[in-house]
Amino acid sequence: MKQIRFGIVGCGVISDWHARAIGEIEGAVLTGVTDIRQESAHAFGQKYGAKAFATLEELLTSDIDAVCICTPSGLHASQAIQAANSGKHIVLEKPIGITAEQLDGLEEAVERNGVKLCAVSQYLFSQAMEQAKQAVESGRLGKLILGDITMKFLRTREYYQSSSWRGTWAMDGGGALMNQGIHGVGMLLYLMGPVKRVTAHVRTLYHQIEVEDTAVALLEFENGALGHIVGTTSVYPGYPRVLQVTGENGTITITEDQITGWRLRDEPEERLSAGKVTDTSSVPTNFGIEGHKKLIEDFVHAVWEDCQPKIDLKKGREAVDLILAIYESSRTGKTITL
Ligand SMILES: NC(=O)c1ccc[n+]([C@@H]2O[C@H](COP(=O)([O-])OP(=O)(O)OC[C@H]3O[C@@H](n4cnc5c(N)ncnc54)[C@H](O)[C@@H]3O)[C@@H](O)[C@H]2O)c1
Repeated sequence: MKQIRFGIVGCGVISDWHARAIGEIEGAVLTGVTDIRQESAHAFGQKYGAKAFATLEELLTSDIDAVCICTPSGLHASQAIQAANSGKHIVLEKPIGITAEQLDGLEEAVERNGVKLCAVSQYLFSQAMEQAKQAVESGRLGKLILGDITMKFLRTREYYQSSSWRGTWAMDGGGALMNQGIHGVGMLLYLMGPVKRVTAHVRTLYHQIEVEDTAVALLEFENGALGHIVGTTSVYPGYPRVLQVTGENGTITITEDQITGWRLRDEPEERLSAGKVTDTSSVPTNFGIEGHKKLIEDFVHAVWEDCQPKIDLKKGREAVDLILAIYESSRTGKTITL
């Protein structure tokens, strides 16, 4: 099989996860990188043995097959549209867009150009999520009753000052939910299915930022179950993310990416994860490359086999649409139907 040649745009914090993951995948090779800051592109290119291009346009006219987009969130949709129009497949960091208009434009461009798009949501590839998903889909949990996620994180003032785009509506697209919480929102939707109605309050209670640092949402899922989301970057000292799904046969608890509770009526044995909980609640980079590696492997397979990646544009969009509905509910004081 031919190796898939990757480019990376945006050589900041998360680009390292992409470059290292690509480096560990047999069918993938990193050949080009670019960043608006030339010195970042050169240093990054040198570190990973890839050519530094001066602009995204130049990277997209090189012989890459696919591009990983690792720039600030407000640029994701427009750069992905540019990549799609150049016939390149796309690995797009979360969130895949920050407004409904951006997401509509992205959908249209990906469809029209027939390229593959994989939305980054690396925790969906954990063994814990696979096991929980299987329990839901096989009917072992029974009819779903409740699904909730609590993300009481802490970000520091230095974190928000580390790049000018962080904490802004234009480039972050939101705060505790659109940036940090979107992983958990995606995980909840993955297990519980789509949300029908949401009522929410979002506030900026602690940080000096434009966007929300604290959010609470009540959910009604399409399958009739109820649930809630708590997402914040204001809680000292920060607590691990806890996802709990309850069906009529019992409850599964996932802490970060480990099963920490598995209590089903007909299963005396708990099926807890063997690994230890790695906590990202106050150190955002405290996670390994395994998730990105599995996700990019799945993407490479989708390009080879001409099928959809596991987390495609539609799945990536569901989480953003729900977060946008949460913002709308808080702004208008109304329950929003999705
Ligand atoms: N999947 C995850 O767990 C995870 C973790 C961290 C960040 N992210 C996402 O990755 C994205 C980047 O976050 P980060 O923390 O790496 O940010 P960062 O600020 O460290 O890096 C962004 C890079 O993009 C470059 N850039 C800015 N504008 C550009 C342009 N027009 N063209 C080319 N390059 C440009 C910047 O110079 C910088 O090097 C965000 O959207 C964030 O949500 C995802």
